Amino acid sequence: MIIFHNKSKLSHHIDELKAKGNSIGFVPTMGALHNGHLSLVKKGLSQNDIVVVSIFVNPTQFDNKEDLEKYPRTLDADTALLKTVCDKKIIVYAPTIKDIYQDAIESQKFTFNGLEHEMEGAFRDGHFDGVGTIVKRLFEIVQPNAAYFGEKDFQQLQIIKKLVELHKIPVKIIGCAIHRAKDGLAMSSRNTRLTKEQRDVAPFIYKTLKTAKAKFGTKSAKYVTEWVEKQFKKEPLLDLEYFIIADKTTLKPVKRKSTKKIYRAFIAVYAGDIRLIDNIALN
Ligand code: PAJ
Repeated sequence: MIIFHNKSKLSHHIDELKAKGNSIGFVPTMGALHNGHLSLVKKGLSQNDIVVVSIFVNPTQFDNKEDLEKYPRTLDADTALLKTVCDKKIIVYAPTIKDIYQDAIESQKFTFNGLEHEMEGAFRDGHFDGVGTIVKRLFEIVQPNAAYFGEKDFQQLQIIKKLVELHKIPVKIIGCAIHRAKDGLAMSSRNTRLTKEQRDVAPFIYKTLKTAKAKFGTKSAKYVTEWVEKQFKKEPLLDLEYFIIADKTTLKPVKRKSTKKIYRAFIAVYAGDIRLIDNIALN
C-alpha cells in the first residue's frame, strides 16, 4: 500500500494508473477508521481497479475548536486496518494542512440550493462550506471516476451530489448504507471517545429511531417528534439536540405528511461533549 503526503506526487501516480486504463474509486475520510469506513472502501474496490482513501482531519468544517483538537488521529492504525482489506489496490493520501490549504486555512462559500441551511447546517455554523471546500479540492487532486459517501451523514451525501451537479464535476457519487455495531449504534470515529457508561446507553439513539419509524406509519410528524423528545428527557446521559423528520430530497422539515413524499428522520445527540448523529428511512 502506498501512502502519499504530497498532492503533486499523488496526482502524478494517479495519472500513470489512469493512463494504463485503471479506474479510480475515492473514499474521503477524516481517519480513525472503523468498519463503517471499510464498508465504503470495499464497495469502492468492488467497482474500481484502485481505491484512494484520503485521511485528513479537515479544520475548516469544525465549528468547535475543542471538537477539532480532540478528534482522534490514528494514522498508523488506519493504514494497518486498510491493509487487512487489501494491500495492493489501496492508495492512502494523508496530506498535511499545508498541502491542502497552503497558508490560508479558510473555506470557500457555497450554496447548495438551500440544503446547507437545514439540520447540521443550522446547528454547525460554516460546516458545509468546510466540507464543500475540502471535498471539491480532494476531487481536483484525486480526479476519481467515482466517490463513496456514507448515508450515516445523509445530509452531507445529498450536499456532495449537489456540489458535483452545480460545479459540473465529473465524479459519480455513490451512497453507502449505514454500518452499525451489533447493538445498533451507528459506527463513528467519535464513538471511541465515549465513556463505558455513555457507550452503554448510546444504542438508545437507534432504538428510538426505529420506534419513531414504526409510529410514523400511523401518527403525524408532530406527534412522533414530541414522543422522541419525551424519551430523551428520561435519559440523563444523552442530550437531544434535534430530531427532525424531513423530505429525503429537499431536507425540508415535513409540514403535512404526504403519501407521495419520501421521508427520513434525522437526529443529533450529545453524550457529554461528544456529538453523535444518525438517521433512518421512514417510508
Ligand atoms: P468521516 O466522518 O471520517 O467519514 C468518512 C465517510 O465515511 C463519510 O462518507 C461517512 O458518511 C462515512 N461513514 C462514517 N461512518 C459510517 C458508518 N457507520 N456507516 C457508513 N458510512 C460511514 O464525513 C467525513 O469524514 C468528512 O466530512 C469528509 C467527507 C471526509 C470531508 O472532510
